[in-house]
Order: sequence, then structure tokens, then C-alpha cells
Amino acid sequence: MTKDCVDHSSPPPSAKIHNQTHTETGRAKAISDGKVILVATTIFFLLCIVIAFIFSATRRTTKKPDNRGLVSKQSVKDEVLPVQLPPESIHRRSSESNRRSKSGSRRESATKTGMADMVMVNGEKGEFRLQDLMKASAEVLGNGVLGSAYKATLAGGLSVVVKRMRWMNRLGKDEFDAELRRFGKLKHCNVLTPLAYYFRKEEKLIVSAYMPKGSLSYLLHGTTDRAHTNLNWPTRLKIVKGVAQGLDFIHKEFATHDLPHGNLKSSNVLLTETYDPLLSDYAFQPLASPNNVAQAMFAYKSPEYVQYQQVSPKSDVYCLGIIILEVMTGKHPSQYQIDGQSGIDIVQWVQTSILENRALELIDPEIASNASSTDNMLRLLEIGAACVESNPDKRLPLNKAITRIEKIS
Ligand SMILES: *[C@@H]1O[C@H](CO)[C@@H](O)[C@H](O)[C@H]1NC(C)=O
Repeated sequence: MTKDCVDHSSPPPSAKIHNQTHTETGRAKAISDGKVILVATTIFFLLCIVIAFIFSATRRTTKKPDNRGLVSKQSVKDEVLPVQLPPESIHRRSSESNRRSKSGSRRESATKTGMADMVMVNGEKGEFRLQDLMKASAEVLGNGVLGSAYKATLAGGLSVVVKRMRWMNRLGKDEFDAELRRFGKLKHCNVLTPLAYYFRKEEKLIVSAYMPKGSLSYLLHGTTDRAHTNLNWPTRLKIVKGVAQGLDFIHKEFATHDLPHGNLKSSNVLLTETYDPLLSDYAFQPLASPNNVAQAMFAYKSPEYVQYQQVSPKSDVYCLGIIILEVMTGKHPSQYQIDGQSGIDIVQWVQTSILENRALELIDPEIASNASSTDNMLRLLEIGAACVESNPDKRLPLNKAITRIEKIS
């Protein structure tokens, strides 16, 4: 299913600076209030940032109960990255002391000491090295099940997201390299192609372009009004269509995988300036440590895994269904929670309401007022419900789901 893929990729670095500035001003207050430090030169320091962030984030959420809204304290912590936390949660840190003043000589010694450098897998946005990242100003974006992420703005103006990957220890260096190079070659307007990676036995980083609008999860459940604006019905439909197209591409590209995507959830769907969705964190199953893979990837929350410890490409369809129901209801699914306690059991709620002919009540009030589109909204809800069917054999196949989604206008 090829669709005309307009190039929505970010403008070149020079233009990028201007794009970033308006989001920056929104954060200016939070940033000036925050503890300002420079980013250090060692990976160890990254770890400190992450620990400090977790600590301060926990403290802040307990202090500010008004911050909860639809996104509970729990859900913010459970998100798989990249998470766009509300601006008030974002810190900027800098170090008083640049402990490695000799950083300039590190590149040369890197190979001698066995210290690896970044490996570029996609040079479209330009080349950079680990050193450039370490010198960049950084901002913690959040932390989740798979690891933590921060945003770094490089000297040239390019903004990237660096994710520290947890539980990605199955593959050795060469195999990891082969997988990441394969990801780096992917080209689809609804798929986020990584730019670079960093590999050491005890540390894996994946670098991608920064998307200023953040994730679908942030847009739907973020606590600021800014997050919700523009998520009208046409935009939501466009997002669902794009997610389905991206998933279709991933399924063709990784057709031999048990789980071609494996971690499709709203916090792994990023939005471009024009609200075109980009899927991230796909095809990680072969990289993930076998002992942790079920914790790390959302497809393992599917009914077939919970009941029979089985996953298949159909598990991705379940994940797509959750996103559709989430987009249509505006509710934060309990399925995303580790404990399954907070949020709303969106599957149960939708199935019951449809059975009882109360499907209209499911539609997010923010879009329900668009009466001319009610029928189409209900149609999309039904497709979502057919995608979360608990028996994978009765679940809508991906190609059928896509055909039906594309018919909606
Ligand atoms: C209502 O939906 C129609 C059809 O998608 C769209 O053209 C229109 O802009 C929508 N109106 C609002 C206020 O979102």
C-alpha cells in the first residue's frame, strides 16, 4: 500500500533553530527556575542526570497534585520514551565544572582506549560525534520503561533526542550495528529513522531527530492547553491514518519478525510540525534481552501473551487498536500502566459501550461537537474495537484495518 509520501522531514539545521525557538520560549521560565548545569563529557554523568531527574520528578509530582489530570504520576513514569513531559517538568542542567577539560584529545585516544564513538547510520541531517553531543546543551525529556531520553541541541543548530536504551543487551556489537544500519536506511513519511547510535557493553544510546510537537501521548494527555490545541477530528483521523501506514511499512520491512513493531503505543508516536505521525522504537525485539523483553515492549501486554505467552504480528494490530481507541476517546488507557490499576480499561469500556449501543458516549467531548462527522467517528471506533479483539484469529488483519481506515474521511 504505497501512499504519496510527502517529505515532512525537518528543515535543515539553519532553519531548525527558528523552529525550536518558539517552543523554547514556552519553557524559558521552567528552565530559568531549574538547576542549570552544563552537560558533562562522560557517559557516567548522563547517568547522574537521569538519577537526579527521576528523583526530582518524583518529588515534584508528590508536591503538585494538580499536575495529575489525565496523566497520573504513575503514567508519566511508565511511559516508554520518547516522552514529552509538560514544560514545567523539564529541567535544564549544566555542570559547574567541566571535569574533562582534555575532551579535545579524547577523540584521538578513543580507539586506543577502546572507547567507542557515535556511529552514524543516517547522514541526512549531518554528521556528529559523541563529543558534539556531550558539548551540546541538554534537557531531560523523561524516563520510561525502556530507558531515559534527553534533548540535545548541537552547535550547528540541529536538535536531537538521545535515548539511553535499557535491556538491549542481546546482540553483540556487530549484530547491533547491522540492525541499526538497517533502521538508518528506512524511508517512510510515517517512520522515524534513527540518525546514530553509540554502543558499549554497558551503554547503548540511540540518537534521532527531535520532534518539537512531542508524542501523541503528550498531545492527548499532556496537562497544558497548548498540548491539546489542533487535535480536532481531521487531525486525529490524519494521525490514525499515518500510524496505520507506518505500521504497514514496518510490517512489510520486518515481515520475518515475530513482532515487526512490538512497541507501538502513543508515547512512541511522534508528531511533525504538520501533525504527521512518525513511529519510533520499532523492531527492537531481536535486540532486547530475553529476560526483559516482556517488560520492555507493549505488544507483550496483548491478551495472547497475557494468556498464552504468545506474540505474533497480530499483536501489533492490538497495539494499533489501543491507539485508535485512545485517540477517539481521549482517555489514557490502563493498558499502558505497569500495574494496570490507573487509567481506564479502554478495551472493556469500548466493548461494553458498543454492545449497549452507547458508542456515542465514547467519543472525546473535544471532537464530539463536530456533528457532521459523527458517523465517521463511530466507524473508526468500531475499527479500533475490532483491532483489540482478544482472540488474534478473530482480530482484524492489518491490511483489512488499513483499507477500512482509509475509507473514512
Ligand atoms: C469537522 O469534520 C470535517 C470532516 O472531517 C472537517 O472538514 C471540519 O473541519 C471539522 N470541523 C471542526 C471544527 O473540526
